Amino acid sequence: MRWSALAPGKRLRPALVMASCEALGCDPTHSLDVACAVEMVHCFSLIHDDLPAIDDDDLRRGRPTCHVKFGEALAILAGDALFALAFRVAANMKASAEARADAVSVLAGAAGTPGLVAGEVLDILAEGTEPNLEAVQQIHAWKTGSLISASCVLGGIIAGADAEQRQHLSEAGRWAGQAFQIADDVLNETSTADHLGKAVGSDREKSKQTYPALMGLEAAKAAGEECVERAVEHVQRLPGPKEALQSLIRYSVDRTL
Ligand code: IPE
Ligand code: IPE
Ligand code: MG
Ligand code: MG
Repeated sequence: MRWSALAPGKRLRPALVMASCEALGCDPTHSLDVACAVEMVHCFSLIHDDLPAIDDDDLRRGRPTCHVKFGEALAILAGDALFALAFRVAANMKASAEARADAVSVLAGAAGTPGLVAGEVLDILAEGTEPNLEAVQQIHAWKTGSLISASCVLGGIIAGADAEQRQHLSEAGRWAGQAFQIADDVLNETSTADHLGKAVGSDREKSKQTYPALMGLEAAKAAGEECVERAVEHVQRLPGPKEALQSLIRYSVDRTL
């Protein structure tokens, strides 16, 4: 659990939780526990995504993957335990009972079906099929967008967002998630394993449904830009300091890591 969760990842999702909390005018440190819970769900998904039965990858966050280091059985169990710990941390955070129940429900909704796990299912089932825009958007929305969108909503829950603000956070996160996964697909084609700390060229090898496979690199980058613009429009409707949230959203597509 420590090997994978404390490895040098970007911590984008917890940063989004805290920046969303701030964008509603609330002290972002109040959302630290739920931010950690989101990162634990994310890390569970990385450990399982790398397993031989799924993407079969050897390198993650610049280190041997959990199953390469500790064996498959312990890697599966480390993922399971991080997933459970996430909900324990969210359920026990310092917040009202209502906010805690709401946060647990949002996190569970984003993680399961439909959500991250459903996206992983579609991603696997779509391997080797003809690239198709609707399919790739659905895969991205579920496997990546749902947790990124939930991260923004969770920051809002801690800040006491009303229904309209919550909707803006959810939409901003949904578009940012789409942009983020497009960038992931582009980097899988254009970067190096040394720089990224994970395998490159693997999407093409496994004939994954990706934006570059569908429309080429330049059009994929332009599609990512469009998603960022839509996300930022929603952020602009929030009442508090928005700089951090806006720059994290820009980063989701401008990133080289
Ligand atoms: C990788 O996520 C998996 C995807 C959903 C694309 P990140 O690129 O955020 O991975 P870390 O957390 O920085 O390692
Ligand atoms: C991972 O998607 C999404 C998860 C839910 C873990 P990918 O398989 O495309 O991401 P990387 O390239 O392994 O990080
Ligand atoms: Mg995968
Ligand atoms: Mg993978």
